[in-house]
Amino acid sequence: MSTKTNIIQGDVKKRIDTWIANYPADQRQSATMPALRIVQEANGGSLTNELMDEIAEYLGVAPIAVYEVATFYGNYNHKPVGRHSINWCNSISCYLRGGEELRVKLQDKLGVKPGEITADGKFSIKKVECLGACGGAPMCQIGKQYHEHLTEEKLFKILDELE
Ligand code: FES
Repeated sequence: MSTKTNIIQGDVKKRIDTWIANYPADQRQSATMPALRIVQEANGGSLTNELMDEIAEYLGVAPIAVYEVATFYGNYNHKPVGRHSINWCNSISCYLRGGEELRVKLQDKLGVKPGEITADGKFSIKKVECLGACGGAPMCQIGKQYHEHLTEEKLFKILDELE
């Protein structure tokens, strides 16, 4: 049974259509990644099966094609996230530069583990694979912003300054 959310309308639809227009008419599936990002943002930072189904229907592709993309890349969330979603790079350069120890300090400060949201809904942590900023290790992404060369002091200052 379809549980359509009708999220693809208004500004969301306009933004997806802008991406679709970049590709030939028979290549609407090329807009899968931006469509997932736009719908995820509109849904408060995470996706559901219903939302992915709706994207598939809109792009005219099989739902599995959308699920494959959405589950392969770490920047899509399949569980609700905090207002500030922290993607913590767990790959080798960041790991070797102290990322692991720093993540433990972050967890202690926020009182949550990866996959959890703080009680006030402000932060969530997610462990992700390399975000492509290895030269700035250790690093993380908070919302859309990359934060590199992190130290405990720098990271906590960034968090304290977020609304
Ligand atoms: S290893 Fe962390 S950004 Fe590449």
